[in-house]
Amino acid sequence: MEVIVLPGAAEIGRLAADVIERVLKAQPAPVLGLATGSTPEPLYGELIRRHRAEGLSFAHARAFTLDEYVGLPEDHPQRYAAVIRRGLTDHLDLKPDAVQGPNGSAADLLAECLRYEQAIVDAGGVDVQIAGIGSDGHIAFNEPGSSLTSATRLKTLTKRTRADNARFFANADEVPQHVITQGLGTILRSRHLLLIATGAAKAPAVARTVEGPLAASCPASVVQLHPHATVLLDEAAAAQLEHGDYYAEVWAARPSWQPL
Ligand code: PGA
Repeated sequence: MEVIVLPGAAEIGRLAADVIERVLKAQPAPVLGLATGSTPEPLYGELIRRHRAEGLSFAHARAFTLDEYVGLPEDHPQRYAAVIRRGLTDHLDLKPDAVQGPNGSAADLLAECLRYEQAIVDAGGVDVQIAGIGSDGHIAFNEPGSSLTSATRLKTLTKRTRADNARFFANADEVPQHVITQGLGTILRSRHLLLIATGAAKAPAVARTVEGPLAASCPASVVQLHPHATVLLDEAAAAQLEHGDYYAEVWAARPSWQPL
């Protein structure tokens, strides 16, 4: 696990975009893992900029989103399938069927969870997974208590997550209670995990995630088990870390030949 603290969200977006650009250029059929939420927005803005200004192509890539609300109408603007199109994939040259997410309107939701988990396996797994952290320590929508080896399944959102996400809805009551989410085991199978957190509101969850015990009560702490994880933080999100000086030394001494 490498923890990198940068001055702000723009620097994080550029560094994360470098990782994705390298995967896109190195692999004939890269598979990206996409997250929704506010945290990846600067990264997505940078990817769109590189696509437009520098010709960075996604035409050979596929992508899987982490999660989806259950029960929102097909045309609801907050369905994550719509959010990721608006915020990223509509602005790139991905093929129309290259982006998949769990279907929160499936008639058989349990079968849909199994189908989605298998679709990721069939695609060869995720090369680079982007993820944020919830203020309650969730990653994707794996709320506290999630099995550390869980697969894609139905979860019930905590009150805190629904309150955090109320900003996208008329009020917290409109935030669906249920979701389909990739599991912690699913995320652990990604080949590179880029965990991003910005802002002071995330500082307690970041400290538990990075320096607390590996525990289902802080699901994002599975980052400690991941064989190749990069944690990208701004200074506010990193404020409660105990070993911040050491992370800064590691970053300053990073050999130029060592890619992230
Ligand atoms: P945010 O959400 O990026 O909107 O803060 C992160 C998350 O809930 O995982």
